Amino acid sequence: MDSNVQKRRENKKSLRVKVISLGNAEVGKSCIIKRYCEKRFVPKYLATIGIDYGVTKVQVRDREIKVNIFDMAGHPFFYEVRNEFYKDSQGVVLVYDVGLRESFDALDSWLGEMKQEMGSMVNMESIVFVVCANKVDLVKRRVVDEGVGRLWAESRGFHYFETSAQSGEGISEMFQAFFSSITDMCENGGKRPVAEVTVGFTKEQADTIRRIRNSKDSWDMLGVKPGATREEVNKAYRKLAVLLHPDKCVAPGSEDAFKAVVNARTSLLKNIK
Ligand code: GTP
Ligand code: MG
Repeated sequence: MDSNVQKRRENKKSLRVKVISLGNAEVGKSCIIKRYCEKRFVPKYLATIGIDYGVTKVQVRDREIKVNIFDMAGHPFFYEVRNEFYKDSQGVVLVYDVGLRESFDALDSWLGEMKQEMGSMVNMESIVFVVCANKVDLVKRRVVDEGVGRLWAESRGFHYFETSAQSGEGISEMFQAFFSSITDMCENGGKRPVAEVTVGFTKEQADTIRRIRNSKDSWDMLGVKPGATREEVNKAYRKLAVLLHPDKCVAPGSEDAFKAVVNARTSLLKNIK
């Protein structure tokens, strides 16, 4: 075969990608990577100093993928080192510890730091995200439930996996889905494919549940102005009921949100003539 044709075929088959790990210090980012690359777990905490770099080769369908992994330090102290390494990432592993609420709450600020460092021109749709709810082996100290983590991730179009670097649970499934999505994205002209997750609910439903959870009073919850008429309250209620009825909506938290909406409507109607 013509050597140029052969070379072109090989080029199509091989791919180089860059991925980074993000999340608070001590959530288990390095251990997750170590578990996948070296099939072992280190119980002693060895903080990453600035950044760790490694390369691994994986096979996705007929393509060999050379993955450059930049494992970030989570400690705020290393921001000045970390910020150099965000650019040109095609994949992000976002990690939190299911036993530490603040590490879950911090995911938004990790996305914020990333956006800031990558610049306003970066298209977040061209990056594959996977969220690891890590340390699920420590069942008794768990404080962030699966539903809450899954909702946060899947409503943003991110993959969600329950993982344990200690037992290995979920690790290879997570990396397989992650690399497969990155490959799909590269083959799809740099656009993130719709995550192959069993979301089963819409972004509108997830956003509405979040809005209901954060509402300051019953008017706010129904999305009507204080002093609205019975008709306005009923109309808003019907719209939310259709969206959130537990028979139709499987989004985590829909049942509580639906109950809260029913109660809000009842208490408002009591006081409207
Ligand atoms: P920084 O590098 O400081 O950002 O931390 P990191 O997120 O890389 O954390 P690392 O992987 O070093 O793990 C922190 C500690 O948690 C270590 O003591 C690990 O042994 C422990 N650890 C990590 N993953 C797990 C897990 O799934 N289960 C349990 N039980 N412990 C874990
Ligand atoms: Mg580390």
